[in-house]
Amino acid sequence: MRQGRVVVRAPAKINIYLGVSGPRRDGYHDLATVFHALDLSDDVVAEPADPGQVSLSVTGEHTGEVPTDESNLAVRAARALARYAGVDAGVRLTLVKRIPVAGGLAGGSADAAATLVACDALWQTGCGRAELAMLAARLGSDVPFALHGGTALGSGRGECLAPVMARGRLHWVLAVSAEGLSTPVVYAGLDADRSAHEVPPPEVPGALLTALRNADLPAVGVHMANDLQPVACRLRPALARTLATGRDLGALGALVSGSGPTVVFLVPDERTAEGLADDLVDAGVCHQALAATGPAAGARVVAS
Ligand code: C5P
Repeated sequence: MRQGRVVVRAPAKINIYLGVSGPRRDGYHDLATVFHALDLSDDVVAEPADPGQVSLSVTGEHTGEVPTDESNLAVRAARALARYAGVDAGVRLTLVKRIPVAGGLAGGSADAAATLVACDALWQTGCGRAELAMLAARLGSDVPFALHGGTALGSGRGECLAPVMARGRLHWVLAVSAEGLSTPVVYAGLDADRSAHEVPPPEVPGALLTALRNADLPAVGVHMANDLQPVACRLRPALARTLATGRDLGALGALVSGSGPTVVFLVPDERTAEGLADDLVDAGVCHQALAATGPAAGARVVAS
């Protein structure tokens, strides 16, 4: 029997580590990354619509910057699943956005992953998780992780995933900028910086994986790193001050997430996270600061 309405929640991600290769022949880069899913999430509500109709509306914060036409990754996800599964049913999608847009937190990828799971449930396609992961990888490099969730090693262009043993909950503060950064522009900046020399294949440091396994927070803080960070800071010089301010205020680790411009700080507990979030806003070094924890589950049905 077909479902009447499905709500799926999918997490924002940060990259606790992001190592980037030189450009591949297809223009992408091989990554050695540690993805980490946060309890900051978007919801996708999927409701039946006439055959072939895929419509999208957006509610929540940052709605103005999200396209609602066929270019939206959620619409593309619905169309890709319908085509793959041979379904002619339509869907009315509503995105409930809480994840900042173009922030290096993979909000669009979360929406695409949530849409795959929601439409799969709504249309009862019978696709398995592996088929959804394959469709996810075609939609974007971060979409498979938004399905997967947890803490995971990412390789290839980010679509090849393996779980990471990470003990306990990690507490974070996200310093959000008013304006996003373009991911392709940040990658291109890195290529330009490195054009004169060989780039060794990226590798996640063993010491970081050990620290995650042992819940050794100071060591996690020391080994967090992102090859894209210098480029993001050059394109958005204010980020250097945000990073320094969070470190001065006692964060265990500080990092630009993904291609930025969101800056993430590792802190020992929830109370410290709330205090640091307030202090960062008071210091005037970010537009908004959010406390978050991880790991969180991947895209999952929360109501139907
Ligand atoms: O895969 P996705 O569409 O999310 O990637 C957006 C852009 O980010 C790509 O067009 C590319 O410029 C860059 N990218 C990359 N290497 C990756 C992932 C993303 O160069 N592994």
